[in-house]
Amino acid sequence: MSAADRWDAKYADWQEPGSPSEFVIGHADLLAECSTAVDLAGGTGGTALWLASLGIDTTLVDVSGRALEIARSAAAERGVQLRTVCADLEAEPLPSIADLEAEPLPTAAGLGSERGWHAVVCANFLHRPLLGALCGLLAPGGIAFVQIATVDNLLYNARPGRPFLVKRGELPGLCHGLETVSFEEGWFGQRHEARLVARRPS
Ligand SMILES: C[S@@+](CC[C@H](N)C(=O)[O-])C[C@H]1O[C@@H](n2cnc3c(N)ncnc32)[C@H](O)[C@@H]1O
Repeated sequence: MSAADRWDAKYADWQEPGSPSEFVIGHADLLAECSTAVDLAGGTGGTALWLASLGIDTTLVDVSGRALEIARSAAAERGVQLRTVCADLEAEPLPSIADLEAEPLPTAAGLGSERGWHAVVCANFLHRPLLGALCGLLAPGGIAFVQIATVDNLLYNARPGRPFLVKRGELPGLCHGLETVSFEEGWFGQRHEARLVARRPS
């Protein structure tokens, strides 16, 4: 079964988007200078919809067409603009900026003139080559928010399984070319997570 089929089946009965990431919400101050954002493997769009509600031009990428359908329907109900892109983020080669954006992105003052998003979110989805490519998806000065459960999470939770977990201290080193703004590891509620905020140098 493909990843798309597996996740479409998982989302088949969902009617509403999941909750936005409280990690990303907790860094809302860093988003003040961002006018574009992409949520990679963002599922049913909880975080993407929250970003869009701030007036940020937001793209939601996921392999599940069903997840994107739920997100689009919520966007329409809430009256927010949300771009959705169905893409396999584990494909080789990885999708490029051109594959993920439907149209050229505007440039905000202070964030450089090259193409790329001002903010990239990757939460609860681990594909190490993708994390290594985040720098190339960001505009100079752009910021990445990455949130992944660690192997310590297995102490109390059977899922996600080990292939979907980072080792203790591993996450910053996976995000090549980015400068760490903040890095935390620990128990957040019932989950043991690594949480990285990192910036592409200007
Ligand atoms: C655990 S969910 C996380 C969703 C969201 N980021 C969150 O934190 O709530 C993992 C997401 O990854 C998506 N996914 C799985 N494999 C993928 C792939 N190869 N390419 C793109 N998205 C994928 C799934 O459809 C699912 O929405």
